[in-house]
Amino acid sequence: MLPELFLDTSSQTARIWEENRRGEILDLFQREVYGYTPTARPKLHHQVTRQEQISPTVQMERITLTVGLDGKEASFEILLYTPVQNHGKLPVVVMLNPFSRSEALDHARRDAQHMPYQEITAKGCAAVYALVDGLAKDDKDQYHKGIFELFPRENPHSWGVISAWAWGGSRVVDYLCSRDIFDYEQIAVAGFSRGGKAALWCAAQDQRVSMVWSVASGCTGAAVTRGKTGEHVADITTQFPHWFAERYKAYSGNEEALPVDQHLLLGLMAPRRLYVSSSSLDSWADPQSEFKSLTLAAEAYHLYGLEAVDAHCSFPPVGEQIIKGCTGYHLRGGEHACTKEDWELFLRFIHRHFK
Ligand code: GCU
Repeated sequence: MLPELFLDTSSQTARIWEENRRGEILDLFQREVYGYTPTARPKLHHQVTRQEQISPTVQMERITLTVGLDGKEASFEILLYTPVQNHGKLPVVVMLNPFSRSEALDHARRDAQHMPYQEITAKGCAAVYALVDGLAKDDKDQYHKGIFELFPRENPHSWGVISAWAWGGSRVVDYLCSRDIFDYEQIAVAGFSRGGKAALWCAAQDQRVSMVWSVASGCTGAAVTRGKTGEHVADITTQFPHWFAERYKAYSGNEEALPVDQHLLLGLMAPRRLYVSSSSLDSWADPQSEFKSLTLAAEAYHLYGLEAVDAHCSFPPVGEQIIKGCTGYHLRGGEHACTKEDWELFLRFIHRHFK
């Protein structure tokens, strides 16, 4: 049995959701799954380390974002791509990239698959590639350097590395909101796989994010945990003990006891825009369970009288995109990856919703 959006069926309104239930669900995800995000707001500084026109149409800035608290500091880099010709305020797509820095930069150089800035800027948007592993390395023995020196893990409900990357996404939003070239109402956050988990968690907590896209985020990302194939809580907490609150391990082989499931995480996006995509051969992430989660999240959108991909929509064939109201989905043919085809389909969704 999946947990319900509301415990009390007689009180299902957008007002009660916003004032009450939404906060309860968010708290359960913090306490039991991702851990509590620190509430202190350290000072944020930025430094532009490079600025160049990298093509006839695209300007690139390399920026270091640094947070400081009690004499300690942690930094990460972002690459910001803007169209050279730009009229009016720019919508932005932020891609959280937690993979190792050289791998991430290599992707950007090699084929831009994780961040096709040329195509994004051609649509009149800015693109940000956020190298959030600067805050916390994806390594169970090394992660505690960086942001965890400012906010250490102190108890079983303390935050983990996925939360730290998500927190980095919010610091990127802080930075964007300090520059008047961006449209603060049109900020999308995206991520692939472990980055997709972080993107969803960032958007769930930070309502300045107006759109989220998770690519093949799977277990403890978009996919419902109960009944999914492939990866389970036991696998993910054993292989990546640093990703979540320590408490999450208690649900290994005991998913039914979780007070939440991932469709509720997606529901926390309502009434904002939500896009999920999967790869057809990715049984570890489980496309069917990602899609199911999205359809169940529709209930939160319906509270606002908004349309969303729901139980009336069937699981699409490979290559087909479904967009219904505020949410969308596609299933790309192939392995676990984030490809140009994924971006093309997502950019259609952006085009529909951003100016
Ligand atoms: C592993 C992990 C997944 C994760 C993926 C990735 O396969 O088990 O949960 O999504 O790595 O980030 O590529």
